[in-house]
Formats: sequence, C-alpha cells, structure tokens
Amino acid sequence: MTAAAAAQRLRLESLRKIYQSRGRDPFEAVKGIDLDIEPGELVALLGPSGCGKTTTLRMIAGLETVTGGRILIGDRSVGSLPPGRRNVGVGFESYALYPPLSVRENLAYGLKARRDPDALRKVDAIAERLEMTDLLPLRPAGLSSGQKQRVALARALVRNPPVLLLDEPLSHLDAGQRQRVRRELKVLQREFGYTTIIVTHDQLEALSLADRIAVMDAGEIQQFGTPDEIFDRPANRFVADFVGEPPINLLPGVGGGTGEVRLGDAGTLPTAAHLSSGTEVTVGLRPQDCRLTTVDAATSVTATVLVYENLLEYGLATVELPGLPGRVVVQVDASERLSAGDKVQITAPPDRVHLFDATTTHRL
Ligand SMILES: Nc1ncnc2c1ncn2[C@@H]1O[C@H](COP(=O)(O)OP(=O)(O)OP(=O)(O)O)[C@@H](O)[C@H]1O
Ligand SMILES: [Mg+2]
Repeated sequence: MTAAAAAQRLRLESLRKIYQSRGRDPFEAVKGIDLDIEPGELVALLGPSGCGKTTTLRMIAGLETVTGGRILIGDRSVGSLPPGRRNVGVGFESYALYPPLSVRENLAYGLKARRDPDALRKVDAIAERLEMTDLLPLRPAGLSSGQKQRVALARALVRNPPVLLLDEPLSHLDAGQRQRVRRELKVLQREFGYTTIIVTHDQLEALSLADRIAVMDAGEIQQFGTPDEIFDRPANRFVADFVGEPPINLLPGVGGGTGEVRLGDAGTLPTAAHLSSGTEVTVGLRPQDCRLTTVDAATSVTATVLVYENLLEYGLATVELPGLPGRVVVQVDASERLSAGDKVQITAPPDRVHLFDATTTHRL
C-alpha cells in the first residue's frame, strides 16, 4: 500500500453514541461498532430506519460528538478534529446551500476558497456527469428535492475528497435517473478512488454499488462482507431476512441427524451442516434456490400451490406446507405454469439450505 493510499484507510474502533436529551432516558444509537475500510473501497451501510446509519456517518464527519471509541483516517485519530480538518467529503441532504448564489457558484465556492484556478471547469465537468448542467444557473430556492440531492452529491464530489460519506444520496431521484446516477457515481468513485461509505436502506442499491456491505440493525453491525457473502452466507436470521428479494422463507425445522432437516409433516431438506437429531432450528430457504422435483426424491418437501404469478422471465408460486405455519414463496421456470391447487415437490441444494440457531438466531 502506498503512503497516499494508506492515508485513505478508514477505521472505526468500538465507535459508540449515546444521545442524552433533556427529559428523556439516554439512548444508545450506536453500540460500539468496528469497521475497517480499505483505501478506495466503496462500502454500503445498509439497515432499517432508526438503526444508527446517519448517526455513524455524522460522527465520522465530525457533525456529532462521539461517546466512545475511535475514528481513524490513515493512522490519524480524527475524533477531536473539527469537520473542516478531517478531509472528508459529505453529501447529506440537510446540507444548506447559500440562497443568493447560483448552483454553479455554490458548487465552486469551496474550491475558490482554496484558490483553485480550475474551480468552474471542475464544477461543469461534474455537473455534466450527474446530468445536472441545466441546474447550474438556477438559485437553490427553486430546486425540487431530487435536484437538490444531485447538487448535494456534486458538491461532495467536486472537492475530490480522499474519504466520501453519502447519506441516501439518490433517494429522491426518479427510477430512471436513479439508475443512471448510481452507475455514474460508481464510475466516478472508481476513477478517483475515494474511500466511500454510502448509506442506504435500498438493498438493490447496496448490492449494485458496493464492494462490501455492512448490514446494521439496532446500533450494531450484523455482518460485513461482499454482496455474495451476505447473500450466500448470511451471518444470522436478521441479515438473511433483510437482504434478498423476494425475501427468504424462514421456517421452523428439526434436525434429522444425517444431513437433513425435517419441516413439519412436509418432508425433509438436505443440509450441508450436521445437525444433531431433534435440534430445533430456523430454516432459511431463498425462493431462487428452490427446485421442483419428483415425489420419489428422498430429501424434498410436499407443498400445495395457493397462488401462481407469471412474471414472464420466471414464475413465483406461493405454497403451503402441511404441518407448517405461514407460506413459502418458490421461484420456478416460466415454463412451469402452475395453478392454484397443484401439488408440488420442492428441494434445494444442501449448501443453499441455511440453518439458524432457533434461540440465538446465529448461522449454524
Ligand atoms: N439528536 C438525537 N437525539 C436523540 N435521539 C436521536 C437523535 N438523533 C437520532 N436519534 C435516535 O437514534 C437512532 C438512530 O438514528 P439515525 O438517524 O442514526 O438512524 P438511521 O439509521 O439513519 O435511520 P433512517 O434510515 O430513518 O435515516 C434513532 O432511534 C433516532 O431516533
Ligand atoms: Mg438516516
């Protein structure tokens, strides 16, 4: 690692935030999290509303005090530095623009303050890539929320910061623009190599953008890994349930001893992990991993189709398993054309049958 690259490594060590507001009990929003982000890496911080994503970013940016732990950029602990000296670019929605200045002047402001002779040219180049050249002459007051969001993103990018923090940078864009700006953001990030954290609660955005995803819940990092690791080997029931579309099926199962798990009266599924006979587990089965098979397949479960949705590229069958509560969603080839009332036999490859401890919810 070169010295310049090493200076872009971002580490969080036991980072903690307790909010103390008057008249309310103290609230621990971030519960001592660790993250080690490589120089130039793009990390998505993914989690449900209120899990502590924005709080984490604001602490790194210096906009929120830290209750405990350390933030390191390169080898420097930046926890006590003011925001302006952390060398971090932030794209937060709440960031105010100067009303009397045009968007172009707003974007060039920071560069001009540092006497960058190329300020306007850099602004025009970024604006073009974010599809917002038409916004440059306007004043901030007249911008829509999606336009403001692109301006905030451009402002963070134009400084070419070593570390970039973006909080839901695309949430107000329409679907088409969102995809295009998302791709351009990734191209820019690769081109300039900013170490980036992007906060999102959109899993598709996280999967498509990120080198690694940190899945967060209730102030804790539940898993930090590549999109494939998160999808193929979820660390616990929460991660399994949060990532994946349609969502994973989670069912009560009982260990059958020899490489199989029993699901109610429906039959058994093959497992890669060994489960002692009688162990109670939660079985996770992704709709995409289900296979239709024949009745005589040894490890398979019987199900009855309740609803079949033909989505052209594939079909989704919602089925019921005898002796099990709830429903199971199964993705099948478009050619299957199932109908309500059909009896089907379902199996899955052993390494795609996820097992979670029924009590701790950890992966087995
Ligand atoms: N200034 C504050 N004082 C007290 N509690 C706060 C404060 N700011 C945030 N919180 C609480 O801390 C928790 C985490 O908030 P945070 O904004 O970090 O969540 P988030 O993951 O960004 O959620 P969202 O996806 O909705 O933006 C929430 O329960 C929130 O109510
Ligand atoms: Mg937030």
